[in-house]
Amino acid sequence: MDTADEKNDDFPEAGSRDVRTLRELFRLQLRTALAMEYDSLAGLAELRAAGTPHDTTDLLGHHANETREQIENLNRIFAAIGEEPLPEPSAASAGIRRQGRDLVEDCAQEMRERAVLAAALGSESYEIGCYQGLITLAEELDAGDAAELLQLNLAQEVHTGEALRRRLQVVG
Ligand SMILES: [Fe+2]
Repeated sequence: MDTADEKNDDFPEAGSRDVRTLRELFRLQLRTALAMEYDSLAGLAELRAAGTPHDTTDLLGHHANETREQIENLNRIFAAIGEEPLPEPSAASAGIRRQGRDLVEDCAQEMRERAVLAAALGSESYEIGCYQGLITLAEELDAGDAAELLQLNLAQEVHTGEALRRRLQVVG
């Protein structure tokens, strides 16, 4: 793949942002997390539309509700630090969403539930890493309230990841 193919105008160009302080880095990662949760919410709706059995669609629906709470938690952190809750478009979470959608479309009906669960599990794994990084930055900033809210989000992602994995084992 050459450089022209790698360029994507939907996302900020590398080097276009001038991040110099821990606070700026935290704010940027927080914005990226907000975009991630919007992508996750849209991805969960797409996966739920794949027509899988109730146990799986209920699990995805429950986590969609949790994801809305997580967006609220992120908005509370933005308010606490006096910043606008502006999502930073994320090539990673947009790509994870697209990959999940493509995988499900590529699968025959008998493989579809496994594909849905595997795609959702991949998304949760990415979200877990994102929150672990943000919590570490918040702790370094001595932003204890932010760290607590981020821990709530992380706990839901970890719990959901486990539930998806267990469901995948049952289906497989
Ligand atoms: Fe999630």
